[in-house]
Amino acid sequence: MNVPAHIRSHRTPTPLGRFLFGSPYYPEHWEPEIREKDPALFRAAGWNAIRMAEFAWSLMEPREGVFDFFLFDETIARFGAEGIRTILCTPTAAPPRWLTLKHPEVLRVDENGKSLSHGSRQHAGLFSAVFRAHSKRITEAMATHFADNPHVIGWQTDNEIHCHFSEDHSPVAGAAFAVYLEERYGNIGNLNRAWGTAFWSQTYDAFGDIPTPRPAHPTHANPAHVLDYRRFLAQGAAAFQHDQVVILRRANPKWWITHNGVFPLVDYRGDFSRDLDFLGYDSYPFFAPDPATRRFTQAFNVDYARAFSGNLVIMEQQSGPGGQGNYLHDNPGPGEMRRMAWSNVARGCDGILLFRERSCRFGAEEYWCGVLDHDNVPRRRYHEAAQLGTELARIGPELLGTWVEVKIGVATGDFDAQWGHEPITHGLPAPRQVAEIIHTQFNTAGYAVGCVHPGDPLGGIEVYLVPHFTLFRQEWIPGLEAWVRAGGTLVIGARTATKDPHGNVVAETLPGILRPLTGASIAEYGRLNRPEARPLSLGFKHAPAEPVPSTLWYEWLVPEKGTEVLATWSGQHLSGCPGVTMRRLGAGCVIYAGTYFTAPVIAGLMAELRSNGLLPPPENQVPGVEQVVRTDGKKRFRFFINHRESEATIPLVRPGDELIRQAGIKGSLVLGTNEVAVVREHSA
Ligand code: GAL
Repeated sequence: MNVPAHIRSHRTPTPLGRFLFGSPYYPEHWEPEIREKDPALFRAAGWNAIRMAEFAWSLMEPREGVFDFFLFDETIARFGAEGIRTILCTPTAAPPRWLTLKHPEVLRVDENGKSLSHGSRQHAGLFSAVFRAHSKRITEAMATHFADNPHVIGWQTDNEIHCHFSEDHSPVAGAAFAVYLEERYGNIGNLNRAWGTAFWSQTYDAFGDIPTPRPAHPTHANPAHVLDYRRFLAQGAAAFQHDQVVILRRANPKWWITHNGVFPLVDYRGDFSRDLDFLGYDSYPFFAPDPATRRFTQAFNVDYARAFSGNLVIMEQQSGPGGQGNYLHDNPGPGEMRRMAWSNVARGCDGILLFRERSCRFGAEEYWCGVLDHDNVPRRRYHEAAQLGTELARIGPELLGTWVEVKIGVATGDFDAQWGHEPITHGLPAPRQVAEIIHTQFNTAGYAVGCVHPGDPLGGIEVYLVPHFTLFRQEWIPGLEAWVRAGGTLVIGARTATKDPHGNVVAETLPGILRPLTGASIAEYGRLNRPEARPLSLGFKHAPAEPVPSTLWYEWLVPEKGTEVLATWSGQHLSGCPGVTMRRLGAGCVIYAGTYFTAPVIAGLMAELRSNGLLPPPENQVPGVEQVVRTDGKKRFRFFINHRESEATIPLVRPGDELIRQAGIKGSLVLGTNEVAVVREHSA
């Protein structure tokens, strides 16, 4: 299948021909009588897909080279007879004991030099040639065995790569790191220059002499060294997956291939996702403990995942309370599972698999509650899933081919920008954390906000905010400038473009390569460590009336000719110095904010943007109700989701057909708690 990588953006729909609904399914956990009855039970709840085998290696290959697929053949056939298709997984997240006994060297090694042990999962290192050979072997065996099975529609590679652990300091990883660096730098002199190894006597004579960096052993490592190690780990994950992708595509080119993210040190914008037909995402909103903010975190997380390469399939969505080790989540209340699913669909998911079919009675996740309880009695979660299944069977197919409308974009999804921050944070939040603050502020205010990578086309976006990407690529600038000239408002946060691609500080006056675009330079900057003792605030020119406190960072800006000052500092030695500037460019403008985007700063900026006519009033004026539009440029579906604890009356932007209730509506809509409406709008 494979959508051409170069045309992927946050607006790329999945190439799926059916809207997927179902769950992961673990036949290895159930008695024969239950397995026999399950296909009909889940068909009745609207399942059209199950996902299997991600942790079943020891069953499928009980001894090296001895394969047994009977359980999966039988399950695929039984579900297939009910019209339920199968997504298979390569089982490499849980290698069998015979493998780790025979080859203990495949185990990952942590930063203290300790091997991870067998007995849970994700213990094998992705750089081990031995492990890669075994990964290819089991993938080949599965691919060959299932190639002609008409009920198998697609694959998930592995499971949540880097979910528990991303690093590897084993000797094989160390040797692979040397090869990676040699390919990148050609000769050791180039590396020494690029990394600035003159500092602290780090000069290297040979690539093989370079250790994997172990931060804080004894103190901070060279940031360039750490950044390249992170890139190396990401490249290793992509290469490991690529082995499997090649085998699967060769076995049956009609299969689609996905992976369930999103986890640290995988470059989902890069080769890793270019190898996939679309990205999968696992949605567990109840990891956010506060019910008041949970919906905003869920919205941000799915938008963040969509920014990498477009629409997603939720390979796992929380259905019940989740529990492992020392925690057990709140139990989603009546209607919450369905509401979470519709929020994900509204935000660009073309399939939902509920985790999991039934709670397992054993293993580390014996309290991870699924759609059915341990006793297999269908209760409210099953009935709610069945309602969702009926709705999605009707409405899902109409949504395929549509994307999420974004008017306010937040820059995310760049590996270097995120991971280049981490070696030297100064205690400041990372781009992803700041992006969530911005997203939540605009979401709360009723705007169609979404995450968008700076390399994406920005057409349709009115305001685009860049949250402190210290590593900022020159190649993004022409696209951003063209979009600004066509009328866009670009808002760049402090410290953006202050580093070069190695993570070293640039020599030019800041903001470096962005100086021509911003029309301002930075005369002085500083961390605000005790803002309560030495306060600083920004007085905006137009609004709001009260100066806005700045608590993390300040920059004293020097506007060039033609650049306006939107806000000035007051406090410390900076009173009267420019803190926010605006340069008009063509039909648009570039705003540079010489501070960190905290919630009060965003509120101040929003007000300033509005008074400059740069931010239209939000379309969604009803607090507590989520509103999102999916469109293909012609059809428009507006989703309304009531997160309030009370009924909401919602004025409609446009009349249309409400697809859940199957009724034409105009004027306004009344929704109860956790209720959802999907309006196919009539054209204006
Ligand atoms: C996911 C993982 C599943 C299961 C689930 C609940 O992260 O893919 O295998 O562990 O969480 O913990």
